[in-house]
Amino acid sequence: MKTVKLSIIGFGAVGQGVARSIVLKKEALKKQGIDLRVVGIADSKGCEVNANGIDLKSALLRKKENGCVAKGAESAIDIIREIEQDIIVEVTPTNIENGEPGLSNMTAAFESGRHVVTSNKGPLALCFSDLKECAEDNGLIFRYEATVGGAIPIFNLVHEALAGNTIIGIEGILNGTTNYILTRMAEERLPYEHVLREAQELGIAETDPTYDVEGIDSACKLVILANSIFGQSATYRDVDVTGITKITPEALELAGRNNYVVKLICEAGNGVLTVAPHLVPRRHPLAVGGTLNVASILTDLAGRITISGKGAGSIETASSILSDILYIARNS
Ligand code: HSE
Repeated sequence: MKTVKLSIIGFGAVGQGVARSIVLKKEALKKQGIDLRVVGIADSKGCEVNANGIDLKSALLRKKENGCVAKGAESAIDIIREIEQDIIVEVTPTNIENGEPGLSNMTAAFESGRHVVTSNKGPLALCFSDLKECAEDNGLIFRYEATVGGAIPIFNLVHEALAGNTIIGIEGILNGTTNYILTRMAEERLPYEHVLREAQELGIAETDPTYDVEGIDSACKLVILANSIFGQSATYRDVDVTGITKITPEALELAGRNNYVVKLICEAGNGVLTVAPHLVPRRHPLAVGGTLNVASILTDLAGRITISGKGAGSIETASSILSDILYIARNS
């Protein structure tokens, strides 16, 4: 049995999803020879540490009842540096101004000899190559499947399943909130403010929903894709971005009458990075509805491969994080 020790840094929707998925899968994973032990959890108010493995069910209950997991006063950085462990799961909220606290947490993890798994877009949209280099310099694995497309295994698909192919271009819908807004406005003729509120109630919108509707969240994800797949060193500021705020119900209706839908499309290829609303034929593979995300990858050998799925959500995002944790468990 291989014991893999990890800490969850950030215990919001994603961190709790990771804890729930480990509770759900613990026995099945043991049968595969992997014993996942969470030895530290930190949220913004404090932490819990247990070298033998935290009781995740009671940590989740405490979080629900008290709004925090705190039992001890150590900071996230103390947990990252001082506990003996293999992996840091960095799932603090995205900050695209300076990437903090995620950037410092990930750097501290690599400097302390821990592999990193993250869903945190900010540090990768700002400093992707620095983080990758820091992981490589320390001989560690850096996995970030959950940063783009939530549950959709885009990086796994490109780096593993499509290994050997040259990737020519990528296009897709990488933001569930705007896709939900455009779908509901077109199909139900509901006003923008109403459907934005619905998206917020679904828990998929960013804390500041301008990041969604102005296309910034899509730009961050596109940059992470481009840096990882094309080896670029772009930041989200290099993306040519137009959001969805100027799209009127009349424009959506006109598109619909002509069998088109309007979608916020991200495109990367030939060094060009763009996010902008496009008219897409109603039956086109990119015309997925609701909160779905989709990525279409153009390759030289395999041709075009298109995958779609849930781009947000606590347990869906945890699916990608768990897959990254297991990759490290099997390959380190
Ligand atoms: N606000 C994001 C979205 C959440 O709507 O897709 C997932 O990154």
